Amino acid sequence: MTTHLVNEFARDVRAGLNKKGQKELPSKYLYDEVGSALFEAICALPEYGLTRADERLVRCHAGELAERMASPVTVAELGSGNGRKTRLILEELSRRQPILYHPIDVSAAALRRCQTEMEHLDSVRVVGLQHSYLPGLREAVAGRPPDTHLLVLFLGSTIGNFERPAAQEFIREVRGTLRPGDGFLLSTDLEKSAQQLILAYDDPLGVTAAFNLNLLARINRELDADFKLSQFQHLARYHARERRIEMHLRSTIEQTITIGKADLTVPLRREETIWTESSHKFNPQEVIQLGERGGFRCEAQWMDEEWPFALTLFIAQ
Ligand SMILES: C[S@@+](CC[C@H](N)C(=O)[O-])C[C@H]1O[C@@H](n2cnc3c(N)ncnc32)[C@H](O)[C@@H]1O
Repeated sequence: MTTHLVNEFARDVRAGLNKKGQKELPSKYLYDEVGSALFEAICALPEYGLTRADERLVRCHAGELAERMASPVTVAELGSGNGRKTRLILEELSRRQPILYHPIDVSAAALRRCQTEMEHLDSVRVVGLQHSYLPGLREAVAGRPPDTHLLVLFLGSTIGNFERPAAQEFIREVRGTLRPGDGFLLSTDLEKSAQQLILAYDDPLGVTAAFNLNLLARINRELDADFKLSQFQHLARYHARERRIEMHLRSTIEQTITIGKADLTVPLRREETIWTESSHKFNPQEVIQLGERGGFRCEAQWMDEEWPFALTLFIAQ
């Protein structure tokens, strides 16, 4: 990591752990080399139905999506990860024209995997942007070839990581970078039983626990901290009123952590938690409203029945 990124990481960690009341760490830091690999393993778990549902929908409707988008198209993807599902979309779009594709991700490891995933697609040029979502999108927009439509992808229900008002604001900001006629394809995990959701985020094999705990290991590695991983437990809980899964790391003893590069000493009580990620769940109608209030119209919405999940195509008004 560059000095600038290390400083930003240290600043965010200091702000999150210094919070009065509930301590927090931003979820984007879950995805370093190890975290991105663990997320791929999570996607293969039988309990984590989201990725398979998303993939079924993309596989089924990529052809229709390509027909509904006016050509020529440039594609930008927010938080692309390894781009495995996106390959199906790019295959369809590139049947008609060469495609410029910008995966945008904070994780260098994810971008490398994504580049490899697209290697065999002859008519797709991949230009990865290691950035946060909006700065990355602005860079993609600045370089968009004249007279092309932009299709922005936000898959994996990653929108669920935002608090609901922030999700609305985020969609508005995405729309603000676009021109009328541009597309926005949004995946959202739908409400389902708390039991099913808890299993998806706290699998018996412990992969999600490792993914969550790796955040502390990463802070140890990159910010000279002394978290003892054996003194923390992964916790996934469903917050019914907010309709979200929360992931926390619970301190099993009273302890004090030192984080050298953040110039920080943090006392933790026994049972105190650090909140690391939220995954909000939606109903199909509210997804359409999110888009419409953000300045889009809903062009199509497709639903998976096996694992309730929606893929919604919006067009900028
Ligand atoms: C839940 S994963 C989804 C990956 C992929 N889109 C999928 O559907 O499988 C979220 C991805 O977004 C990236 N990410 C998380 N926060 C980000 C941020 N603020 N800006 C850019 N990328 C981010 C992570 O590195 C990760 O690859």
